[in-house]
Amino acid sequence: MKPPYQEIGVVNTREAFKRAMEGGYAIPAYNFNNLEQLQAIIIGCVESKSAVILQVSKGAREYANQTLLRYMAMGAVKMAREMGSNIPITLHLDHGDSFELCKSCVEFGFSSVMIDGSHLPYEENIKLTKRVVEYAHQCDVSVEGELGVLAGIEEHVVAEKSNYTDPGQVQDFVGRTGVDSLAISIGTSHGAYKFKLKPGETVPPLRFDILKEIEKRLPGFPIVLHGASSVLQKYVAMINEYGGRIEGAAGVPEEQLREAAKSAVCKINIDTDGRMVVTAIVRKVLMENPKEFDPRKYLGPARKELIEVIKHKNADVLGSANRY
Ligand code: G3H
Ligand code: 13P
Ligand code: ZN
Repeated sequence: MKPPYQEIGVVNTREAFKRAMEGGYAIPAYNFNNLEQLQAIIIGCVESKSAVILQVSKGAREYANQTLLRYMAMGAVKMAREMGSNIPITLHLDHGDSFELCKSCVEFGFSSVMIDGSHLPYEENIKLTKRVVEYAHQCDVSVEGELGVLAGIEEHVVAEKSNYTDPGQVQDFVGRTGVDSLAISIGTSHGAYKFKLKPGETVPPLRFDILKEIEKRLPGFPIVLHGASSVLQKYVAMINEYGGRIEGAAGVPEEQLREAAKSAVCKINIDTDGRMVVTAIVRKVLMENPKEFDPRKYLGPARKELIEVIKHKNADVLGSANRY
C-alpha cells in the first residue's frame, strides 16, 4: 500500500534522524496551529537550510480542523519547493493519547506520530505503544514513544514533579515496542514556567548523567527532548511591558540544548517560545497603534519576528542549519 503521507509530500523521520545523529545536531520540531506560525516555520527552516518537523497536537487538530491542517501541510511543502528548497519536512502528531487518534493521523497523511503512554503503568505503556507501532509501520510512518514523565502539563495530565526516565528500562521498552525514537525526561518540562526560581537562583542543569546512561544502553538510537523552549527573556519582558503578566517565567538555557543536540538527542520540541514571540509582538503593535484593526498589520510583524527566532534556534542552538 502506498503510504498516505506521500500525497502530502512529507517524509518520515528515519533519514533525517540518521543524518542528525551522525552530524551531532538535532532536528527542530515546531508546533503550529495557524497560518502565520506555519509560514514562519517553513520560511525560517528554508532560509536556514534545516530539516523540520511540523508538529500538531491534539488541541491544534481540534482548533484548526484536521482537513484544513492536512492541506495546510501540503501547501507548506509546495511553498518550500517553490522557494527552491529540498529540506525534508515531516508532519508529526505531538502527544497522541490513543491508538485511534494515531491511526486517524496516519490516514490523514501524517508521516510520524507520537504515542504518549508515559503516564500509564509500564506494561500498559508498552502494550499501547506496540499497537501503534504495528499499525503505523504498515504505512511507513515513524513512531515516537515516551518513558518518564515531565513536570508540568503533558496534554491533560498534570505532574507535580518530574519522574526522570529510568535508564534501566529503555532497552526493554524500545526492544518490545519497536519505536523509532524515544522521548525522555531529564529535567525539561512543558510551558513557560519550567523552573520556579527564587531571586538570585539560576536554572538547574539538565540531567546529562541520565542522558549518557541512556545513550550507553541504546547506542545510535534517536532520543527526543520535549519541553525544550528557552523562554527567551526578551519576549517575556516585552509581554510584561505591553500589558501582559508573565512573571517568573524561565526555560532551558540555550547552551544546555546545544550540548544535548550534540548527543543522541535528534529531535527538540519547541512550542512555548513561538507562542511568546507572537504574543509579545502582537501586544506591542496593538498598544503602539490603538487604531489598528487589520490582522495583517499585527500578525505580519509577529510572523517576521518568529522567522528570525527560528533561524537563530536552528543555527545557534540545535545546529540544524546549513545541512541541506
Ligand atoms: O506539549 C504540548 C504542546 O506544547 C502542545 O500544546 O496541547 O496546547 O496544543 P497544546
Ligand atoms: P515547550 O512548552 O517547552 O515549548 O515544549 C513543547 C513540547 O514539548 C511539545 O511537545
Ligand atoms: Zn511535549
